[in-house]
Amino acid sequence: MNKDFLALSDLSLEELDGIFALTKELKQKQKEGVPHQILKGQTLGMIFEKSSTRTRVSFEVGMYQLGGHGLFLHSGTTQMGRGEPIKDTARVMAGYCDGVMIRTYSHEAIEEFAEYSYVPVINGLTDMFHPCQIVADIFTVIEHKENYRDLKYCWIGDGNNMANSWINAAAVTGFELRIATPKGYEPNSDVLAKAQQAGANIILTNDPNAAAEGADVLNTDVWASMGQEDEQQQRIKAFAGFQINTDLLKLADPEAIVLHCLPAHRNEEITDAVIEGPQSVIFAEAENRLHAQKAIMATLMER
Ligand code: CP
Ligand code: NVA
Repeated sequence: MNKDFLALSDLSLEELDGIFALTKELKQKQKEGVPHQILKGQTLGMIFEKSSTRTRVSFEVGMYQLGGHGLFLHSGTTQMGRGEPIKDTARVMAGYCDGVMIRTYSHEAIEEFAEYSYVPVINGLTDMFHPCQIVADIFTVIEHKENYRDLKYCWIGDGNNMANSWINAAAVTGFELRIATPKGYEPNSDVLAKAQQAGANIILTNDPNAAAEGADVLNTDVWASMGQEDEQQQRIKAFAGFQINTDLLKLADPEAIVLHCLPAHRNEEITDAVIEGPQSVIFAEAENRLHAQKAIMATLMER
C-alpha cells in the first residue's frame, strides 16, 4: 500500500475494503473494552492550519486508544507558520514522529510534505480532498445497508473537497454517484475527468430533485467551506433550492439515509428536521471518524 493517504484514489478497492473490515474490528474491540494497542509507543504529529473539532479529537483519541500519542500542533505556533519550508519541516517531523496528519489549504502543500516525509502522511482535509471523512462515511453506510457498492449515492450542494472525495470513492468502488450543484459550483474538473477515465459512474446535474430521485444515500455539506467565509452571502443566494429538507427526502428511496460530515449550518444546506429525523445517521457518522481513522493509522503505521 502507498505509505501516505492523501486522497481516496490512493487506495485500491481491496485496500479500502480491508480498512472497512479493520474499522469494524477495532470499533467492536473499543466498545467491548478489548485492548488493541497496535501503535504502542508511536506518535502521530497533527498539524492544523484550519479549525477542527472532529478531526482533531478523533485522531488524538484514536492514537491514545491504539497505545500511542497524538501531538497537536497549530501551524500558526510553529516555524512553518513563519515560513519555514515545507520540505524542511517534513524531514524534521519525520525524525520525531511515526506518522503525520495535516489539515491545510493547498493540496500541493500536503503532497510536497509527503514527498519529503519518510513517515506516512495522512490528509486531514485540504481544499481539494477530505478522504478520512469519506472512509468514515462509507463505513457508516455499510453499518446501515447491505452491499454498499450497489447503492445510489447523491451529493446535493457545493462541488467542494467532500464532493471531490466522493468522486474518487465512486471511481474506487464503482457505485453510482449523482452530484447536483448550482451552475459554477461544480466539483474539480480534473478530479472528475480522472474518475470518469477510470470508469466511474457519475451523473452531474443542476437539478437537486433529479439527483435525489430514488437515491439510497443523500449527502451534503456547508455551502461555504473554510477559507470561503467572505463568499457566504453570495453562496446562500446561489444555493437556494439545494437544501436537503423533508420534501427532497421524500423523493429518495423510503429507506434512504442522510449523511453530513459536520459542522452543519442548520436550515441552510440541511434542515434541523432532517438532521434530527429518523433517516439521519449523521452522529453515527461523526463517531465513525474515530474508528475509521484508527484503521487507517493502523494500516499505514503498524510496524
Ligand atoms: N468533519 C470534520 O472534518 O469536522 P471538523 O472540521 O470538526 O474536524
Ligand atoms: N467542506 C468543509 C468540510 C468541513 C469538514 C470545509 O472544507 O470547510
